[in-house]
Amino acid sequence: MTEGRIRRYAGAALLGGIALAASIATTVVLAQRSAPVATVATAAAATTTAATPAKPASPDADDGGLAWGANYFPNTVLTDQYGRKHRFFQDLVKDKVVGINTFFTSCSAACGLETARMREVQTLLGDRVGKDVFFYSITIDPLTDTPEEMKKYADRYQVGPGWLFLTGNVKEIEQLRRKLGLFDDNDLNNPNPNDHRLHTVIGNQKTGRWMRGSPFENPTITATQIGTWLHNYKLPSSKETRFELAPQILRNPSAGEKLFRTRCSSCHSVNAADRSAAAAQKVGPDLEGVGQRRPRAWLERWVKEPDRMLAEKDPVALAVYGQYNKIAMPNLRLSSKEVAEVLDFINEESALPPDAKRIKQ
Ligand code: HEC
Repeated sequence: MTEGRIRRYAGAALLGGIALAASIATTVVLAQRSAPVATVATAAAATTTAATPAKPASPDADDGGLAWGANYFPNTVLTDQYGRKHRFFQDLVKDKVVGINTFFTSCSAACGLETARMREVQTLLGDRVGKDVFFYSITIDPLTDTPEEMKKYADRYQVGPGWLFLTGNVKEIEQLRRKLGLFDDNDLNNPNPNDHRLHTVIGNQKTGRWMRGSPFENPTITATQIGTWLHNYKLPSSKETRFELAPQILRNPSAGEKLFRTRCSSCHSVNAADRSAAAAQKVGPDLEGVGQRRPRAWLERWVKEPDRMLAEKDPVALAVYGQYNKIAMPNLRLSSKEVAEVLDFINEESALPPDAKRIKQ
């Protein structure tokens, strides 16, 4: 996969907003010579009032590190889940390869999916996270998200080292999100923070290469972007980042399979016989045969509004919730048609023998 190809995909993704379908198509490569926020703003018709980026110190693309350096990124003081303080630019981003997203601990929508997805990327990158790749999740609800709450959240998802959850001053975090292209002015008018923008920004501060990805991205692709491309191909590919691991997404999967891959597979497998570490790591239950274990009407409602069923104390939902570390399944806002498609796909996949499964992990 060449960079040019990814750039073309990026164009397609922009036209469709955050395309939720094919995973490759959702990556947005920020043009190297313009500042991240400016590109994001035009690209996704996001904020027009985003802070004007500082003039690049040098117009030379090779000098990208200077372009989005101390002049561009603020030194916002942020506190991590262990109570330690960091300056955003100087301590967290300067000279580093980073993955940054926003979240909040009480989120009942897709932030959980994003955290689970990033955790898969972290697993693929192994112990490089914390050494030459750093993950930051910045809360958009700093008043609630104290270091203690963030620590509990990180523990629930069993995130590994090298991934900081960060809180700070409300206004300063808003400014930081604007700089990162992770703020939408619509967020201001929207009383429901569950609707906040879902993106992961990944970049290499020194080379000035920044990309924006969607949480629905295939984790192998994100791991390749962050672990190889952003390192200028200096590192040899590891086994996990082989391109051959991605071919399933190049054939034409059904609507239900696409939905499963993009919205469910970060938390669920459909292969009860799979004893691999990757399968054991999923935060939700294996779904093989769930169509036989539960009535269809229950499943349809559950996939559509798990948050409401938990709130109503549905006994089956509560029992499953209790078994799974009290991680709530997110409300993914699927339509009834999408719910039916994804449940049909789970039934089809369940019927396949282990070595014929299309979902590998
Ligand atoms: C962020 C992680 C996450 C995502 C994404 C997710 N789930 Fe779940 N899911 C869970 C967890 C955790 C549970 C069990 C705990 C609970 O009940 O909340 C669960 C439970 C379930 C159950 C009930 C299983 C049983 O044995 O009764 C079904 C069915 C299910 N999920 C389907 C889906 C489908 C379909 C999707 C995609 C459209 C999906 N989930 C996306 C985390 C997730």
